[in-house]
Amino acid sequence: MRSSWLSKLSLIFGPRPPLNWLLLCLVSVLALIAVLGSSSSSTFDSLTPSSVPDIYTNYRRLKEQAAVDYLELRSLSLGGSREKELGLCGRDKEHSVPCYNVSANLLAGYKDGEEFDRHCEVSRDREQCLVRPPKDYKIPLRWPAGRDVIWSGNVKITKDQFLSSGSMTKRLMLLEENQISFHSEDGLIFDGVKDYSRQIAEMLGLSSDSEFPQAGVHTVLDIGCGFGSFGAHLVSLKLMAICIAAYEATGSQVQLALERGLPAMIGNFITRQLPYPSLSFEMVHCAQCGILWDKKDGMFLLEVDRVLKPGGYFVLTSPTSQPYGSSSTMKEGIATDSSLMEELTQKICWTLLAQKYETFIWQKTVDSNCYTSRKQGAIPLCQEEHEVQSYYKPLVSCISGTMSKRWTPIRNRSSSQWNSSKLEVHGKYFQPDDFFEDLQVWRSALKNYWSLLTPLIFSDHPKRPGDEDPLPPFNMIRNVLDMSAHYGGLNAAFLEEKKSVWVMNVVPVNAPYTLPLILDQGFAGVLHDWCEPFPTYPRTYDLLHANGLLSHLSSERCSMMDLFLEMDRILRPEGWVVLCDKVGAIEMARMFATQVRWEARVIDPQNGSDQRLLVCQKPFVKK
Ligand SMILES: *[C@@H]1O[C@H](CO)[C@@H](O)[C@H](O)[C@H]1NC(C)=O
Ligand SMILES: *[C@@H]1O[C@H](CO)[C@@H](O)[C@H](O)[C@H]1NC(C)=O
Ligand SMILES: *[C@@H]1O[C@H](CO)[C@@H](O)[C@H](O)[C@H]1NC(C)=O
Ligand SMILES: *[C@@H]1O[C@H](CO)[C@@H](O)[C@H](O)[C@H]1NC(C)=O
Repeated sequence: MRSSWLSKLSLIFGPRPPLNWLLLCLVSVLALIAVLGSSSSSTFDSLTPSSVPDIYTNYRRLKEQAAVDYLELRSLSLGGSREKELGLCGRDKEHSVPCYNVSANLLAGYKDGEEFDRHCEVSRDREQCLVRPPKDYKIPLRWPAGRDVIWSGNVKITKDQFLSSGSMTKRLMLLEENQISFHSEDGLIFDGVKDYSRQIAEMLGLSSDSEFPQAGVHTVLDIGCGFGSFGAHLVSLKLMAICIAAYEATGSQVQLALERGLPAMIGNFITRQLPYPSLSFEMVHCAQCGILWDKKDGMFLLEVDRVLKPGGYFVLTSPTSQPYGSSSTMKEGIATDSSLMEELTQKICWTLLAQKYETFIWQKTVDSNCYTSRKQGAIPLCQEEHEVQSYYKPLVSCISGTMSKRWTPIRNRSSSQWNSSKLEVHGKYFQPDDFFEDLQVWRSALKNYWSLLTPLIFSDHPKRPGDEDPLPPFNMIRNVLDMSAHYGGLNAAFLEEKKSVWVMNVVPVNAPYTLPLILDQGFAGVLHDWCEPFPTYPRTYDLLHANGLLSHLSSERCSMMDLFLEMDRILRPEGWVVLCDKVGAIEMARMFATQVRWEARVIDPQNGSDQRLLVCQKPFVKK
């Protein structure tokens, strides 16, 4: 069935000249039907809540689309440009992440851990090809089943690598034929994650881990997520837990976490700051994450201090006298020296709240004057006027964030709705009215998008009304990348609509720096330069969304083809792309979409604006 509408599509979009005239006739007829059949009030407006059931709007939309396609086809048949589809990359690129070629980095002279850093300039010459899925790739199970069971053919880790890894979460995994199961809930295998989480809660003076929000904890940065089970547990407690881990050439933590539908990205802070603003997280967690905290004059601790909100917690689980665990890139076999740790944490005004077994919890001060009151070897405050974008900023040896208007102790942060006075702290990029208006826009836009995410929209025989509910199920997608998230309005709308998704909100460099606001809403967010590859493994997102990004990038140095190749790399087979932009940009995007072999359809919201939507689906190439 799939192949039949696929071939229909290739008829419509593929460059097969002899058929053009035939198609033209076919589409003309369709267009005629559409024109004659459309009701007089056919101004479907994506932003106006409609009393018409979605199924009818969809149907009408498709008919209108036929008319648009007719016009486009005509321009194609009149000798419009013909795009060539790109070829597939070799099998060696199946799991490739550009910018992290360790051997090339070593050749380029990076050492002392820097070779594990992101160096896009070293691997610049990207071959223009489509990253193909592994031979045994299977579409992941839907959330929440996909959280506990993944296809082993989809990830790079092999049974042998898994069995030889010394990770403490190893016991959580049980390999069955072509699946890997994580018995995160009620598992007979290992209840350790729940016990561990409960222990942390107790150490914070809470009676259970469902009370983390009472201690002010909503967002957690989990450094080195193992196989993601701690994150999965935190997510089940309705916390936002984002995993970061260094790039690993074999069997990756981040790849596993994302495959399970858990928020994660490749990231480290060997030499550079994390791409998050200061004062972003309420808890930073490291369980045998392989970082030697007392090295580099405590600069790693200063980076944790920077991203922690005032009153936030640093949870460190690590054997203090044994070598560090396995997974990491820094196997030096030296454990963190606890007396040095004590000295360093005192200098940066952290209080050791509790210690139990191998777990330590420190709390960052809520008093921004604390730092200067330390006499012995005080660490200077960073000289920063206001929030600055931190992309590729080197680690610093000073205390960040003390001058920020966002310096608010976490326990005092009310979880109630945003209001204008709370938004004031976000300063110059920010108009409260815009914020609320934006939210309103996305509430209705999402309803529209959601109804479009069905292969139906590529077909020229839409289902008849009443056939079947055409709306995709709430859990059709899980990992969403909003490539230009602005205030995070789409994320907020998803939550309100109770979809099963989490959103990675990206704020592009050179766009208004709204990232602090996104993180303060408890969302995942990151700064990124879209002229470079995104720090994630191939096939990790179900939906990519970009509103106005193409227009924004048109003034930048980067190649659109590379952007589409990158989008294709990180998109799962059968995943979706929704682009919203000006007519010209969408026309161009459609051309690129054809080259990367996506099925694509232009949608005209017909609300009198020059905005268009391009809805695309990546096919599952099985060869
Ligand atoms: C990594 O760099 C090395 C040395 O430049 C090169 O031979 C190799 O093909 C690169 N690997 C990938 C996956 O690009
Ligand atoms: C935060 O709350 C504590 C007690 O709950 C109170 O003493 C303190 O003044 C509050 N701080 C701010 C900045 O509101
Ligand atoms: C708005 O926020 C301010 C500061 O957090 C608070 O004092 C005020 O009560 C809030 N107003 C409403 C209507 O929630
Ligand atoms: C029309 O719809 C587009 C896409 O949903 C939206 O971005 C735009 O603001 C709308 N324009 C008007 C005038 O309502």
